[in-house]
Amino acid sequence: MKIYVTRPIPEVGLELLRRSHPNFEMNTEDRMLTRAELLEKARGLDGLLSLLTDKIDGELMDVAGPQLKIVANHAVGFDNVDLAAATQRGVLITNTPGVLTDATADHTWALLFAVARRIPESEKFLRAGKFKGWGPLMFLGGDVTGRTLGIVGAGRIGHAVATKSRGFGMRVLYSDEVANAAIEQEVGAQKVSLEELLRQSDFVSVHVPLLPSTRHFINKDTLRQMKKTAYLINTSRGPVVDEAALAEALRNGVVAGAALDVFENEPAVHPELLKLDNVVLTPHTASATFDTRNKMATMAANNLIAGLAGQKPPNLVNSEVWGKHRK
Ligand code: DGY
Repeated sequence: MKIYVTRPIPEVGLELLRRSHPNFEMNTEDRMLTRAELLEKARGLDGLLSLLTDKIDGELMDVAGPQLKIVANHAVGFDNVDLAAATQRGVLITNTPGVLTDATADHTWALLFAVARRIPESEKFLRAGKFKGWGPLMFLGGDVTGRTLGIVGAGRIGHAVATKSRGFGMRVLYSDEVANAAIEQEVGAQKVSLEELLRQSDFVSVHVPLLPSTRHFINKDTLRQMKKTAYLINTSRGPVVDEAALAEALRNGVVAGAALDVFENEPAVHPELLKLDNVVLTPHTASATFDTRNKMATMAANNLIAGLAGQKPPNLVNSEVWGKHRK
C-alpha cells in the first residue's frame, strides 16, 4: 500500500499509521506542499491523509490513479475536496466531525470577548508603555451579558456557541434552513430569518459550511442590515465573508467590530483589515488545542486505516461510494 501524509500531524495519529502501515510516507517539513509537490506525491497512492490546505480535485485523483481508495481529510470541513469528482471515481472521503466542536466554540467566545472588550488593542497599548493610569474613557467596549447573540447556522458548532452563552444571560437568535429543537429548548433560542437576526443581534457569529450559496454570504448589503454597535465573528470559512466589504464597513462605522479566524484567501489577509484596530485576527486556530488536534489526528488515521482495509471508514462523507467499494 502506498500512503502519504501531506504534513506532520500529532504523533498519536502517526503512531496509529506506523502500526498498521509502517512504510507510509510523509512530508516531514511543517509547511504546506506546493501544488506541484502534492501532485508528484499523489502518484500511485492508495491512501492520502490530507489537510484543509490541500486541494483535492479530479486532477489529483487522476494523477494518483484508479487504485486510490481513500482521502482522509484532517478537518471537519471538506470544501478543499471536490466531492463530486471523488464520488465519480469511487474514492472514499472522510472528515473529523464532532471532536473539534467545543474547541471551535470556545475560540469563538474568545474572539467575541477579545473584540468587544478590545483586548488585543489595549494590550498593545500597555506593552507600548502608554498606560499612564486608569482613565474613565479608556478602551470602552461593548457589553456581552444580557445582549443578543445571533447564530448563523445552528449545526454542531453554532449550537455549542449558543449553549455556552448561558453564563452570560444572553438572548439567542438563530437562522438556519432547518429548525434545531435542542437549541430552542436548551437556551430558549428563537429561529428567525437572516434579516431579522442581523437587525436584532449585538453579536453575529457565523457557522455555515462553505458552499456556492454561502460564498460572500456576509457582504456589503448584509453588513448594512446589522446594528452599528454590533460585532461579527467568523470561525467557519473565510470566503463566507466578503473581506473588502467588511473592511469598508469597519472603517466607516457600519458595524462596531469583527473577529475573524478564517480568511478569504488564506494565508493572505485583506491588507485593509490589517490596518484596522476594531478587528481581531487569529490564524485559523479555532481548533488548535492539544486534545482536539490529537483527536482529529486519531480520527483521520483511523478513517484512513479502515478505508485501506476495505472497511467502511467511521466518518465517511460520500457514503454513496461505499456500495461500489464492497463489490
Ligand atoms: C476544520 O476542521 O474544518 C477546521 O477549520 C480546522 O480545524
